Amino acid sequence: MSGPGSDSGTRDVPAATGPRVALVTGGASGIGAATAARLRTDGLDVVTADLGPGADATLDVTDHDAVAGLVADRGPFAVLVHSAGVVGPAAPLTELDLEDWREVHRINVDGTFVVCRAVVPGMVAAGWGRIVTLASIAAKEGNPGQSAYSSSKAAVIGLTKSLGKELATTGVLVNAVAPAAVATPMNAATDPAVLARSRALTPMGRMGRPEEIAELIAWLCSERLGFSTGAVYDASGGRASY
Ligand SMILES: NC(=O)c1ccc[n+]([C@@H]2O[C@H](COP(=O)([O-])OP(=O)(O)OC[C@H]3O[C@@H](n4cnc5c(N)ncnc54)[C@H](O)[C@@H]3O)[C@@H](O)[C@H]2O)c1
Repeated sequence: MSGPGSDSGTRDVPAATGPRVALVTGGASGIGAATAARLRTDGLDVVTADLGPGADATLDVTDHDAVAGLVADRGPFAVLVHSAGVVGPAAPLTELDLEDWREVHRINVDGTFVVCRAVVPGMVAAGWGRIVTLASIAAKEGNPGQSAYSSSKAAVIGLTKSLGKELATTGVLVNAVAPAAVATPMNAATDPAVLARSRALTPMGRMGRPEEIAELIAWLCSERLGFSTGAVYDASGGRASY
């Protein structure tokens, strides 16, 4: 095909064909639930998966066999929104248990790896796919009292950038969203002082709403996205400086 795309050594991203099925992990709550609802309004067939109740499928995203089984039963998936994640205990690094550190990384990092690894082959075979991972402003700034969470989300960014580059000519686009504090159940038990600090650092002076994050994710999952992969999209009310 001629045109600017071929000049730069890339190929145009092919259009999706047939019904698109989306997997939304963490889809029973917060950003995942809002995204599942938003993607359904875009006409996608959405499968939500979550450790907790309220999803279409019960799934531990760190369980390779269970993830592979879901992909075999309900896939192949054209879209993955990997929203499953935990914040872990709030504590200074010197007071953090090694087991708590490992658990946050196991769920946030290993889980992202396991789910991405399971869905990518089907997307590549189809020549079209969209993956959105959930990073955080914490990955960019490093939140005090959240060293495990911050470093796990920085790892999610690194994974997303690597995978985006690996798949750049396959039609599968991989991007991350990095929200600041969003009003979801994840923050229900967050220390009010931590939330006050977050609000003070946010030029818009408020928390995000899950629907606002879902809107950005829906665009990243669509054919309207064409020339962007391995990127990190800010959703922080003006807080992020890069
Ligand atoms: N809420 C925020 O302020 C905020 C900010 C930045 C990034 N994020 C990220 O966005 C994502 C969604 O967060 P949220 O606010 O909607 O949180 P949430 O707690 O409302 O939802 C997270 C969901 O993930 C599920 N989950 C946890 N461990 C799992 C596992 N091993 N397997 C399957 N499901 C599992 C939970 O059951 C829950 O339903 C997370 O990755 C989070 O780190 C949230």
